[in-house]
Amino acid sequence: MPLVGSGFSVLSEDFAAAPYRYFAPLREQAPVHYEPAIDSYFVSRHQDVKRVLTDHEAFTTEMLQVRAEPVMRGPVLAQMTGAEHTAKRKIVVRGFTGQALQDQIRAIRTNAADLIAPFLPRGRVDLVNDFGKPFAVLVTLDILGLDTKDWQQVAAWNSGITEFITSIVLPPERRRHCLDCAEQLEAYLVPVIEHRRRHPGDDLISKLCTAEFDGIAMSNRDVTALIINVLVAASEPADKTLAYLFKHLIDHPEQMARIRRDPSLLPAAIAETLRYTPPVQLIPRQAEREAVFAGTTVPAGATVFCMIGAANRDPDAFTAPDTFDIDRADLGTARSFTAAAQHLAFGTGLHQCVGAAFARAEIETVAAMLLPLLDQVRYSPGFDYRETGLYTRGPASLSLDFTPVHEGGTGLG
Ligand code: HEM
Repeated sequence: MPLVGSGFSVLSEDFAAAPYRYFAPLREQAPVHYEPAIDSYFVSRHQDVKRVLTDHEAFTTEMLQVRAEPVMRGPVLAQMTGAEHTAKRKIVVRGFTGQALQDQIRAIRTNAADLIAPFLPRGRVDLVNDFGKPFAVLVTLDILGLDTKDWQQVAAWNSGITEFITSIVLPPERRRHCLDCAEQLEAYLVPVIEHRRRHPGDDLISKLCTAEFDGIAMSNRDVTALIINVLVAASEPADKTLAYLFKHLIDHPEQMARIRRDPSLLPAAIAETLRYTPPVQLIPRQAEREAVFAGTTVPAGATVFCMIGAANRDPDAFTAPDTFDIDRADLGTARSFTAAAQHLAFGTGLHQCVGAAFARAEIETVAAMLLPLLDQVRYSPGFDYRETGLYTRGPASLSLDFTPVHEGGTGLG
């Protein structure tokens, strides 16, 4: 077991290359690891992460003013509390539940079919870069009601904004670039918002424009921030989850075979993928007052990072946590996408992911489409698997080979 004593750093290249090898030693030897370079604490045990995310009096989202607001161009849901948070969360949820969800599932199928079609005759696709990334952005643009023809431009701005939020240390020139992206996206969004105020439709932007909070409509700045909030939150983890799902199923062919025979097992596989390799690895909070964890004192005002990957592999929460097992009894598929989830991939407490049920529908729909199309799916010869990211983490690419499908044989219509 590697050591995590003095000299160990979660900011090291060693940790970035293979964080999962350090999770057990961190939980056992340094459950509250202090990182002097960024004056922050990293908690890794399931019960401690749960405490930080559910004790809203003691741990706040105050630091998002610095970590997120500059690129979100205004306050995001995670910064809000009380009646304002409940009301605005409800408006956002309306954008992807009920009839809106049914329409979006149709759009998900169309987007997935269009994106995969050119790769089918070739028998090879990079599931992250050829498919997952554009897919995740296109689906999010559909939810918001933004024009999908601009997706490459929006994706580029989105990636600058995401870099800002998910960087632990950001060099000044990158910071400038990220802020430029945010300003350009804002300039792109404001005329759309103004148009939707005059001509509202069924999309989420229209719902945000017409909703009132305390009898007052939201300002352009408030609407812009919530649009960017959903854009980043919905697109960043989706392609990673899809790629991890395929990786784990390729690595566990017997579980892949069962899912191919019985696609109703897919939600269990998605839930287990989220537990085993959560795409959001860190959730930050600020200690409102001094707090003690396992004998370590975290001072008032300190930044605390919840280590979701480590918490989801805690043997006190899951039996044989390092095993990928779609049948595990201690997860529970139905509750895995609700507030009662035992895994912490969607966070927990007040700010738990508002899009969890949508994410399940999205990944299930696309995986159920892809599995029959990608017959004999396997890693491409010579493919070198690598993951990147400390804050959000996923496969850098996933080059897959499968039996080529010739025109007319896709069933995609
Ligand atoms: C597998 C996919 C996803 C994962 C793993 C994920 C993960 C998370 C996590 C960990 C949080 C909590 C952040 C915190 O406590 O500070 C969160 C919040 C949020 N997520 Fe997701 N998410 C996913 C998909 C989505 C989708 C598809 C949407 C929208 C359609 C979405 C919208 C949001 C929003 C708006 C919040 C902020 C909620 C609040 O602060 O009240 N997410 N997500």
